[in-house]
Amino acid sequence: MAFKMEESKKLNRYKRIYNQLSELLPKSNDTLARMATVIAVLHHKMDYYFWTGFYFLKDGQLIVGPYQGPVACQELEKGKGVCWTGIQRKEPVIVPDVEQFPGHIACDPRSKSEIVLPVKDDNDEIIGVLDIDGKELNAFDKTDEQELSGIIRLIYES
Ligand code: SME
Repeated sequence: MAFKMEESKKLNRYKRIYNQLSELLPKSNDTLARMATVIAVLHHKMDYYFWTGFYFLKDGQLIVGPYQGPVACQELEKGKGVCWTGIQRKEPVIVPDVEQFPGHIACDPRSKSEIVLPVKDDNDEIIGVLDIDGKELNAFDKTDEQELSGIIRLIYES
């Protein structure tokens, strides 16, 4: 389990990222710039992340936004996979093993686990998802869900 991070270390890492983003994001009012910054900081600070990015709802489709990691699917087949499940359930989805998730869309076979969190704008409308793939099975848990939810809120609230 080379990339499995100990819980207290993980929490401390998230707190530091949150503090860093609280300082960085207010430097621009542009939502896309803020999102790109969130992705860059998360992806480079969390070594168990394999792919980190946003998918945006556009005309009933999910289209890739700012991301870091290997080249990913630009559009996700409607109603299929983990990202669409997050949109439909309107809540975070944690997938310990992507191969066990029916309909999972594999953009890269090296992705082993996944977390998806719906992103709401300042009108409380879901505009897409934050999608993170893990290098190992079972990479994500409630700590990731809780801390990433707080980080997402910074995009519109800071
Ligand atoms: N696995 C996702 C597709 C996007 S990639 O993980 C980058 C899904 O099933 O929706």
